[in-house]
Amino acid sequence: MKIGPFQLVNKLFLAPMAGVTDRPFRQLCKRLGAGMAVSEMVSSNSLLWGSEKTRRRANHDGESEPRSVQIAGADPVLMANAARYNVDNGAQIIDINMGCPAKKVCNVMAGSALLQDTVLVGRILDAVIHAVDVPVTLKIRTGWDKEHRNGVQVAKIAEQAGIAALAVHGRTRACGYSGVAEFDTIAAIKASVNIPIIANGDITSPEKAKLVLDHTGADGVMIGRAAQGNPWIFTFIEHYLRTGEKLAAPPTSEIRSTLREHVKQLYEFYGEHVGLRVARKHISWYSKGRPGGAAFRHAVNRVDTVQQQLSMIDDFFDNLDSDMEQAA
Ligand SMILES: Cc1cc2nc3c(=O)[nH]c(=O)nc-3n(C[C@H](O)[C@H](O)[C@H](O)COP(=O)(O)O)c2cc1C
Repeated sequence: MKIGPFQLVNKLFLAPMAGVTDRPFRQLCKRLGAGMAVSEMVSSNSLLWGSEKTRRRANHDGESEPRSVQIAGADPVLMANAARYNVDNGAQIIDINMGCPAKKVCNVMAGSALLQDTVLVGRILDAVIHAVDVPVTLKIRTGWDKEHRNGVQVAKIAEQAGIAALAVHGRTRACGYSGVAEFDTIAAIKASVNIPIIANGDITSPEKAKLVLDHTGADGVMIGRAAQGNPWIFTFIEHYLRTGEKLAAPPTSEIRSTLREHVKQLYEFYGEHVGLRVARKHISWYSKGRPGGAAFRHAVNRVDTVQQQLSMIDDFFDNLDSDMEQAA
């Protein structure tokens, strides 16, 4: 699929997740088969741009193309400024967040709260699209609440404004993350506009990805939580969509080496003090559901040096290896 001039290698997207989809994780997912990875959200509040956090979020050194940065806010002028700022800092695509239900975002009438005010939606989209000469994409939910699934209306406004692709999370804002994502509204959106549609929500396996693509007719699928601790999900889905066959889970040795490489990238990107702490949640995700995982997490979350963290990762996965050999 294509976004503006960018031909993507496939139709698989890593969903933007604040606190998760930093540059090391995006790069890892791209290496393992994500055709596109959207960055963490950058606020349109310029007072925050000087902060360490925002500078890190706008850091794309060495990142493979296309580099997409998500912005959030409710003021068309500020959003236009934020888009310009990020393009000046290397963004090749600007993604607008109207899909996030977070209190911090919604209380100031941004994120998915904006779906309530379609006039303002149109003004924001126009302002951002006119501010930059790169493709602008949009991420929404299916509506404000179950009685107001206005996704089709918003999609038409987006198409009219010149949005290059639209990602839709199959929940309303009121749903938060509860219940299961529904894909009928995404199918209706796909049928009503001619821009690329990316379906999102609860895609946790290759079979589910195919089901969602078939059901909605969407041009791509976006995966969020299921990629946490499992960046191979992109390899699995890509292979399944291409061949109809399922790949076996990676061997323990590959999980260990990937996690090791991942945490080392985090130390480098954040510095050792912060990197060690950011690594903890990823280590938890990689170890989830594995024998002895809970005790391992309890222990590894308490160590304070990168050497200790790395050696505990080695020990944990070495033990898994020898347990599996004994069981064989
Ligand atoms: C920890 C976390 C952070 C998120 N941050 C953002 C964000 O910054 N911007 C956004 O548009 N969506 C954000 N989302 C929503 C995801 O992009 C995605 O729409 C949602 O998780 C549903 O997809 P999934 O079922 O594949 O996880 C976040 C989700 C999670 C779990």
